[in-house]
Amino acid sequence: MTATTVWRDTGGRLLGGWGPLLCVLVGALMALVLPRVGVEDECCAKLKGIAHVRCQVWGRSQRHTVQSTSLTVPFTALDLLPYRSKPSKETEQEARAALQQAVEMKKLGKRDKAHRLLVHALNMNPDFVDALTELGTILEEEKDVVQADHLYTKALAISPCNQRALVSRDRTLPLVEEIDRRHFSVIDSKVRRLMSIPKGNSALRRVMEETYYHHIYHTVAIEGNTLTLSEIRHIIETRYAVPGKSLLEQSEAIGVDAAMKYINTTLLSRAGAIAVTDILEIHRRVLGYADPVEGGRLRTSQVFVGHHIPPHPQDLQRHMEELAQWLNSEEALQLHPVEYAALAHYKLVYVHPFVDGNGRTSRLLMNVVLMQARYPPITIRKEQRVEYYNALDTANEGDVRPFIRFIAKCTEITLDTLLIATSEHPVGLPGTGHEQACPDCQQTIPIHN
Ligand SMILES: Nc1ncnc2c1ncn2[C@@H]1O[C@H](COP(=O)(O)OP(=O)(O)OP(=O)(O)O)[C@@H](O)[C@H]1O
Ligand SMILES: [Mg+2]
Repeated sequence: MTATTVWRDTGGRLLGGWGPLLCVLVGALMALVLPRVGVEDECCAKLKGIAHVRCQVWGRSQRHTVQSTSLTVPFTALDLLPYRSKPSKETEQEARAALQQAVEMKKLGKRDKAHRLLVHALNMNPDFVDALTELGTILEEEKDVVQADHLYTKALAISPCNQRALVSRDRTLPLVEEIDRRHFSVIDSKVRRLMSIPKGNSALRRVMEETYYHHIYHTVAIEGNTLTLSEIRHIIETRYAVPGKSLLEQSEAIGVDAAMKYINTTLLSRAGAIAVTDILEIHRRVLGYADPVEGGRLRTSQVFVGHHIPPHPQDLQRHMEELAQWLNSEEALQLHPVEYAALAHYKLVYVHPFVDGNGRTSRLLMNVVLMQARYPPITIRKEQRVEYYNALDTANEGDVRPFIRFIAKCTEITLDTLLIATSEHPVGLPGTGHEQACPDCQQTIPIHN
């Protein structure tokens, strides 16, 4: 996928692009020039040298281009990475001992044991570059290239010029890009199948309506709203309250419904850029019933999201303007729609511009981007919460690709649901399934205005 184009380490693209060519050239040169004995070692040393020089030249020059809302923030911007307390000397020693043992175990062919020891080392010291790289190597040998690449990248986030990690990632990056590209083409082919279903298809209309309620259900349930799917349907269809359920919970559901209608009736039928005011208007409706004072208003206090410390309230206006600029930039518009949508979501939760409702608003913004590209809107299910939050954490640590993959997975699940429901023998939505979609997504969710 083009996900790597949004890598914080833009140097990675250079490495990825020129790496293989350089390898071949240097390898050929070495074979001619050096005596056969020790050629491999020499080659390796030269490659490491080149990787190191590239890192010094490009890695360093990127250090001062930091923009905290930008995913092109280089990994070297360590001050932006979430703060973690430094492990004690003893803990570091234990981690080093575990690494040494792991290397021994691997030599003896006890790979499982080596794997476990490395996980232990990283539990002791999550920023232990040598353990990250060693575990990456084991995973790579076990053909888990995606995870290996993630670990090398994490190692480079901590130590941008680590030679072993640089050389290893030169190897894995092109492979991972290819895997991601293939996943996107599978998604695209499913979108095409969906688009080929006639607009008036009754099964499609039915599943679109169902998925509308599913979206509301899951998006409010992710952080604990206890309304059931049928209660949400009841509230929105009848506007009668459900006895025994809190007003706040009911207001949250009504707010998301109002925001989705706003999106469908205004944003999607309007050509042109997404502005900061559009995001504020979505949020104004999301929170409008539960907290009308804060709805549509940038926060004025500092908030904390797990390990993540979003920007200072004073800087929010600027961050939001930068976000809108990015949303409408050539760079963003050229991305695959899933990648574009995932990044829009991530960038908004990274800024966390509101006191509350950031997640709901970001998930809606993500769907605006998808629908504008004529993809179906997607739902992150409440059961996926842990995976979702972990992917956001990983993005904060410097690797946004797992989050893009997570959104790609959600997109595919949505597409499968819609395709199954509109096939000749529909089986309905699984459990508290997914949300709406349509071949003509500009008119998604044409219900209850
Ligand atoms: N580590 C993280 N970094 C950035 N954003 C995160 C992280 N963990 C969670 N989030 C986002 O923050 C949201 C929670 O923020 P907030 O409470 O403002 O949103 P919400 O809409 O009220 O809640 P929710 O989306 O969970 O229902 C999550 O839904 C998720 O999108
Ligand atoms: Mg909240």
